[in-house]
Amino acid sequence: MKIKGTGSVLPKKIVTNDMLSEFLDTSDQWIASRTGVRSRKVISDEKLEDMAVEAALLALEDAGMNAGNLDLIICSNVVNEYITPQLSCIIQGGIGASCPCMDINCACAGFLYALDIADSYNKAGKARNVLIVCAEEPTRMTDWTDRRTCVLFGDGAAAVVLGEGEGIKGISLSAASATDKLWQYRVLQPTPYITKEEHDVPLQMKGQDVFKFAVKAAGKDISKTLSDVGVRPDDVDWYLVHQANIRIIEAIQDYLEQPESKFPVNIYDHGNSSSSSCPILLDENRRKGLLREGDIVVLSAFGAGFVSGAAVIEM
Ligand code: COA
Repeated sequence: MKIKGTGSVLPKKIVTNDMLSEFLDTSDQWIASRTGVRSRKVISDEKLEDMAVEAALLALEDAGMNAGNLDLIICSNVVNEYITPQLSCIIQGGIGASCPCMDINCACAGFLYALDIADSYNKAGKARNVLIVCAEEPTRMTDWTDRRTCVLFGDGAAAVVLGEGEGIKGISLSAASATDKLWQYRVLQPTPYITKEEHDVPLQMKGQDVFKFAVKAAGKDISKTLSDVGVRPDDVDWYLVHQANIRIIEAIQDYLEQPESKFPVNIYDHGNSSSSSCPILLDENRRKGLLREGDIVVLSAFGAGFVSGAAVIEM
């Protein structure tokens, strides 16, 4: 499969580190030096599903296709206001498609998992054109009095249309259960049979453990995928890595012995937008003209679970 079109939509509200310092014991200096983030786009009056539909329509337009051409829609999402129906069905209706659709929750690695599902459907002869939409609002998961987590995230939606061609060279995925490192707990409806006391718990994170996992997993996934497809790190034009922390991205550069110039970043004014992060970066750099037809691109993402994955694609 090959990337035929991309689109992304970000919330209007820009929240700077100085704005956070007004109600949190933090500073621009601390956040920027530890994470790279200076500002992030945060959902205020927008609805995530509207942003997802808009991103999907932009990607279809970019691909020169319409919703009727699609054989499958995959939506990567950790949380949104609906528990059911799934976001992919809302997107299907919003763009006027009629193909099967599914949601996946693979945290920040969702785009890589969706790419693998799309590629597998295609190889099985079940789908020629697939729409992937990553739509995330992690700012609705954190406790905004917790300076350790809420400063890290931003929201956004991004879509990619895949069609015929030899673009996807290889993908590898991994998972290692570590459920106490990055998690959120949600209380379901009470029933007459639930006797224990239950409480919602906003996003909890053991930051240093997550940091170490991310560097190790990304290095391993990227090296494995490159070796599987017989491409050397030096032959890669661009590395599009999940935008979680600039120091994680620098550590991956060091591990692969690759120059900073091959790693486009947008963490500075986006923050970590979970699974939307990689496809937003992809869309922005395609539209800027940085990623060109024939370029070899590595995508890599990692997140809660832990789960991670990498892909080698030719644009
Ligand atoms: N502003 C000011 N101080 C802060 C702060 C903030 N926003 N957040 C934490 N601190 C404080 C801590 O309370 C701690 O203070 P103490 O020493 O008095 O207890 C101190 O800064 C150091 O905290 P620590 O957690 O050790 O910092 P760190 O260097 O590990 O950086 C992260 C914290 C979260 C930035 C870093 O661990 C990280 O990026 N981890 C990966 C997170 C991630 O990517 N998650 C998503 C994965 S998809």
